[in-house]
Amino acid sequence: MKVTVFGTGYVGLVQGAVLADVGHDVVCVDIDAAKVAALQAGRVPIHEPGLAPIVQANQAAGRLRFTTGAAEGVAHGELIFLAVGTPPDEDGSADLQHVLAVARTIATHMAAPKTIVNKSTVPVGTADQVAEAVRAVLQQRGAPIAFEVVSNPEFLKEGAAVADCKRPDRIVIGTGSAAAEAQLRELYAPFNRNHDKIVVMDVKSAELTKYAANAMLATKISFINEIANLAERLGADIEAVRRGIGSDPRIGYHFIYPGVGYGGSCFPKDVKALIHTAKGVGFTPDVLLAVEQRNGAQRRVLAERIVAHYGGDVRGKTVAVWGLAFKPETDDMREAPSRALLQALWAAGAQVRAHDPVAMDEARRLFGERDDLVLCDTPLEALQGADCLAIVTEWKIFRVPDFDQMARLLKDRMVFDGRNLYEPAVLARHGLGYESIGRPG
Ligand code: UGA
Repeated sequence: MKVTVFGTGYVGLVQGAVLADVGHDVVCVDIDAAKVAALQAGRVPIHEPGLAPIVQANQAAGRLRFTTGAAEGVAHGELIFLAVGTPPDEDGSADLQHVLAVARTIATHMAAPKTIVNKSTVPVGTADQVAEAVRAVLQQRGAPIAFEVVSNPEFLKEGAAVADCKRPDRIVIGTGSAAAEAQLRELYAPFNRNHDKIVVMDVKSAELTKYAANAMLATKISFINEIANLAERLGADIEAVRRGIGSDPRIGYHFIYPGVGYGGSCFPKDVKALIHTAKGVGFTPDVLLAVEQRNGAQRRVLAERIVAHYGGDVRGKTVAVWGLAFKPETDDMREAPSRALLQALWAAGAQVRAHDPVAMDEARRLFGERDDLVLCDTPLEALQGADCLAIVTEWKIFRVPDFDQMARLLKDRMVFDGRNLYEPAVLARHGLGYESIGRPG
């Protein structure tokens, strides 16, 4: 099928590449000329396992093209995906200006019926706004061309985006149109072979499904973080409690790992947006408000613990930080808990020596040159001259360090672990002090 994707961020680029990979004819449009030029040259601007090879292979096969030409893009696709960003406004609501701008662009250029498929995470009711925007432009043009607006939310995880997109656990299609449903069933047939993963519903329910999924996952994380705080104060071990509750299939083992709070471009933004939506209809979302509040507090836990360890004064101390990305296998630092930690340490007068396996360029871009930050090429280099170590991201490479060397290098022989990577007894054996999340010291 002929498909056009507007927006080559995580969602659009991965979706476009994966659709091309099963044989669809895909054109990706972006207004960022530098990004499009890089993609045309086969350079993928984000770190996402498995993405570059499928982009390059499908480009070579002529099934995947990149352009800044909106008119060309609109003419190409019978299905046109909206995969542009919806950053939070100051009040937490999702900013729809990009989505609506693309809607108007489509309406300006379309000469034949189109199915507009919304992949961006947008508040309930956005499909109606998109339809309204398209209709208004068509009316101005005096061009009564048929179109549908479908909600088809994306559930991929960064770091596993290609795999998630190739093997979705469900494909949600929000539409009241049998013709649009048939088109999307045909599009997704290669991903829907073993059992039917397609869930068809009305547009608004599909839009809410996306928020409900992320809010539910964020709730699990804030819940376990709350219990971790409680475990610490009661002398219990959250890791034992986690295994104890996860074994109940109704609870499950996923997304109950305690840590330094959820980050990234989705959970913080989507929880805020859903709160805003709820308030907009006169409803107080008590659970979501608490989820967000716990997450804000959780991001401060590691810094508070380090400062408390040094009796309230970390001036002149150097903290090694392992992990800057908001989670492993990505270079994304949007809303990363590491940023909250660094800012708090800097505000308290500490120096930081940081390492991340892939987010170093991003850190350089975000922080620039500063006297209180040294970005180190290896985990070991970060430890050199540091007083203590703080672990923020659970990259595999941090899981089995040389503890003897760690003990030799860290002047105060102290490890603050925001991801519970180690067994406390092991660190004790190597002469290292250890504080983690929700466990006895
Ligand atoms: C999330 C969802 O998992 C995807 O299903 C969804 O499609 C995506 O948002 C989106 O809306 O686009 P993502 O933001 O890539 O995906 O990252 P996650 O793997 O969900 O992790 C989010 C945050 O939660 C990370 O900071 C992670 O460290 C934290 N987390 C996760 C925990 O603290 N504990 C856990 O047990 C799990």
